[in-house]
Amino acid sequence: MSLHRLLFVCLGNICRSPIAQGVFAHVAAKAGKSALFELDSAGTAAWHVGNPPDIRAQAAALKRGIDLSDQRARQVASQDFETFDMVLAMDRHNHAVLLDIAPQNCTDKVQLFLGPGYEPIQRDVPDPYFGGEEGFDEVLNLIEAGSRALLTRLV
Ligand code: 4NP
Repeated sequence: MSLHRLLFVCLGNICRSPIAQGVFAHVAAKAGKSALFELDSAGTAAWHVGNPPDIRAQAAALKRGIDLSDQRARQVASQDFETFDMVLAMDRHNHAVLLDIAPQNCTDKVQLFLGPGYEPIQRDVPDPYFGGEEGFDEVLNLIEAGSRALLTRLV
């Protein structure tokens, strides 16, 4: 079986995409499939470069046994479209931004994280940054379901 290099991308790279990296790694590990994946995350914006994930994101993930504390935010770079097999946007806004900056020969790698099987209206993981802590639990729920669906698609 071949290696899948996956890059999860949101806006700030401190909430949704670090959660997706951590949750997908957890789901793959529980399925005994860790060796099949190389995972990273990035943001389309540069505001939080170098920062760890938002403390609310870390707390919500840790409640499920997932430690995000080693992750640091970075901005997506043109090289990422060559390095990764899939560049997975957490919502339609970031999907559109990624399609704008992707090299012509890499646009098929750019996909929505909530992929086939989700109704178009459900395909955004909502941005929890300006909301309360309960928003992070909802994001964790969506990302867990999306990660299981993605793993099933890929293995
Ligand atoms: P993320 O959330 O894209 O899921 O990391 C956000 C983090 C920060 C900001 C917006 C969204 N911000 O405006 O600083």
